[in-house]
Amino acid sequence: MAKFTHATIEKNSLLLLVLVLVTVAIGGIVEIVPLFLMKSTIERVQGMRPYTPLELSGRNIYIREGCYNCHSQMVRSLRAEVERYGHYSLAAESMYDHPFQWGSKRTGPDLARLGGKYSDEWHRIHMIDPRAVVPESIMPGYPFLAERELETDLISDILATNAVVGVPYTDEMVANAEADLLAQADPNADTSGLEARYDKVIIRDFDGDPDRVTELDALIAYMQMLGTLVEFETFDPEANNR
Ligand code: HEC
Repeated sequence: MAKFTHATIEKNSLLLLVLVLVTVAIGGIVEIVPLFLMKSTIERVQGMRPYTPLELSGRNIYIREGCYNCHSQMVRSLRAEVERYGHYSLAAESMYDHPFQWGSKRTGPDLARLGGKYSDEWHRIHMIDPRAVVPESIMPGYPFLAERELETDLISDILATNAVVGVPYTDEMVANAEADLLAQADPNADTSGLEARYDKVIIRDFDGDPDRVTELDALIAYMQMLGTLVEFETFDPEANNR
């Protein structure tokens, strides 16, 4: 009988095809079976809540202006990234994002853990003229955001739409959306309802102009909460598999 070598396989296309399929199937099973055995691919975490109406408006401006063309929002589980940006991103952190902003381009830094890194004032100056705080920056300025009043008429509908795709906004949150939006940017308003509905909400006049709520208020409110909801002191990455 002829010796069975690699050349035998290469010369017999049918045998080659069968062996290729077997090999690919093994690779597929190794990748897919663990997913069936896990209870969930989204780890359980403390602290995640839906965006407040003001944060959600800021997020919509972020998407409208195409910030994702230069900024990602996902810290990968690589040492260099974790040392630079903080804890790697969890699936749970973007479970209420429609659409998610993981991005695929980093002309500027990752923004997933931006919240609390700078003051509101830094953001105000940076958004109006990035080179005023980072002289070598190639980021475009967005000075018009500070001039434009934020549109609030549609915010209830935007929350309701998010609820349709699974974000746990309650009827109460939807009904109070516009009032909650205005209250978050006004430290003198009655904010008890807002605080009861949204844990850890940051309430202040983000754009430094107390007379009106601008698009810059919304964008800074969004940037200041990015990556701050999950409490990593109590996060247990193994909890999912128990
Ligand atoms: C053309 C690419 C580009 C676009 C578009 C862009 N940025 Fe940037 N961004 C950069 C670069 C480059 C830096 C680093 C230099 C600097 O800090 O300005 C940066 C830095 C930042 C920082 C500071 C991050 C840190 O950790 O230091 C923030 C915040 C930011 N951008 C927000 C935004 C927002 C919000 C938008 C959309 C309104 C946006 N960027 C659009 C390129 C861009």
